[in-house]
Amino acid sequence: MRIFLDSANIDEVKKAYEMGAITGVTTNPSIISRENKKFDDVLGEILDVMGEETLVFAEVLALDAEGMIKEGLALAAKSPNIVVKIPALPEGLKAVKALSEKGIKVCVTVCFAATQAILAANAGASFVAPFVGRLDDIGENGLNLCADIREIFDAQGIDTKIVAASVRHPVHVTELARMGIDIATMPFKVINQMIANPNTDRAVAGFLKDWEKVPK
Ligand code: E4P
Repeated sequence: MRIFLDSANIDEVKKAYEMGAITGVTTNPSIISRENKKFDDVLGEILDVMGEETLVFAEVLALDAEGMIKEGLALAAKSPNIVVKIPALPEGLKAVKALSEKGIKVCVTVCFAATQAILAANAGASFVAPFVGRLDDIGENGLNLCADIREIFDAQGIDTKIVAASVRHPVHVTELARMGIDIATMPFKVINQMIANPNTDRAVAGFLKDWEKVPK
């Protein structure tokens, strides 16, 4: 399972990329707003850090298909690595169809139902992003939605990639990997939680302490 960073913070992007942890970055308007910089500047910085084989997801703001298509074309023109994020709305599907017919990679985002994922795939989306944590927040099970979409896509031979979003903790990550989800996007905190382990720290400290006993 590929890991993407769900952040527009350039220090986090650099750290996660240099760790070899990520092959993509996802943003949304809320994530961009936290950086207090112009959208184009933030996106440019992320594209500069990320390597050739990576993907950078950027979301449209328009709510009508015409506006989404216009924004999507402008975003895609910035780099072949850009994936245009379009909300799972009726107007969004129209934009997904138009942009994907032009060969632009599109991710249908804010997906909260398997039916939305099926329509996204039919419209030509390269990616669909179910929001795991936000479903958990309202007492539903975000992992179950991912499992449903995986099962349906496999049964139907659909090759739209599933990007599990709104990932909140390491257990989400292991469960998503177990069910064969293609990509999980998560905050830098979760990547750090995935590698941190007090047993590893204790073992390394013990090795260094014992090494002091080796005659020099
Ligand atoms: C990423 O593509 C999504 O926009 C993001 O994961 C949403 O996460 P949140 O529910 O933690 O805001």
